[in-house]
Amino acid sequence: MHFEKMETCLHPNIKIDNLLPEIGKKEVIKKILAGLTCKNKYISSIFLYDEKGSRLFEEITRLPEYYIPRIEKSLIRNAATYLNDWLQNVNIVEYGCGDCSKISILLESISTENLNTVCYTPVDVSHSAILESANILLNNFCGLRIHIVLADFVKQVGLIPGAGRRIFCLFGSTIGNLTREQALRFCKNVAGIMRPNDLFLLGMDMVKSREILFKAYNDSLNITSEFNRNILNVVNKLIGTDFDPRSFEHLAFFNEEKARIEMHLRAKKDIDTFSPYCSKKITIKKGETIHTENSHKFTNEHIKELAKTAGFEIQEIFTDEHNWFSLVLFSKYNQELPYHV
Ligand code: TRP
Repeated sequence: MHFEKMETCLHPNIKIDNLLPEIGKKEVIKKILAGLTCKNKYISSIFLYDEKGSRLFEEITRLPEYYIPRIEKSLIRNAATYLNDWLQNVNIVEYGCGDCSKISILLESISTENLNTVCYTPVDVSHSAILESANILLNNFCGLRIHIVLADFVKQVGLIPGAGRRIFCLFGSTIGNLTREQALRFCKNVAGIMRPNDLFLLGMDMVKSREILFKAYNDSLNITSEFNRNILNVVNKLIGTDFDPRSFEHLAFFNEEKARIEMHLRAKKDIDTFSPYCSKKITIKKGETIHTENSHKFTNEHIKELAKTAGFEIQEIFTDEHNWFSLVLFSKYNQELPYHV
């Protein structure tokens, strides 16, 4: 309902398609309860991003220890210069667009006369966030057309529309939050919908020293801790529990074997709580952990392997002087005429 109401006052350059399947509240509750009553407890990371969570994450992106946004933005600038003339008569599809600060860098490189040949297609689950970003973009980039697609980009890659020549973008190391299998499947699906002249720009955070990785996910202001623990407030609202986030500590460490940062919440004391939706008591022992997120890191070998298995040709790898982060430009493999920018 809310959705229809907002649509009536849309800017004429904005179009919205909602591809999200209706997920019932019951299903959500069942999923959360399953994670909290099993042996190795977990809560899906999608519950990190309520309004407060999204605000806290934006604060994280401004922390000096969290190097990803700073490096990635400078690499997007390099990519924009590289793509230069290519960025006209093009559809820019961005998966999980957040605050649109990254796409703005690509759009800034397009001349004012060419902006009306460009369509920006942000794909995300949050209607209000995406619409807010779209309106900001239209203030800054006059003539741009925006086609908002509400979808779960991991599960619905194949359904996402986009005519003409396209560049697909996934920034922020979001690919690292998927399991290795999901990441590969996602890339295969992107390769599957790509046409010979399309491109795919993917942000990948690289394996690096433990200390740097540790600090990036354990900042001195404890914003990351607050962000991680806020997931319990979201859970409380959804399943009616009374978890006190202060009874948990944030735990983030590098799992070398799996080349990933793991995020957990560790109970500081024994905890018993009830949910009106569950007949069993929910018990968490002192020291027990709830897994909330993974952030996989990549090596140059991973990048090559991913390209080969998913069906991409690597056009260019933009990276910083220490190879902390890579922004990889792929085209579809096996084109009769390989694309040259
Ligand atoms: N995409 C971000 C990353 O993997 C998500 C993230 C950053 C995150 N810090 C976090 C998730 C702390 C949970 C907790 O880098």
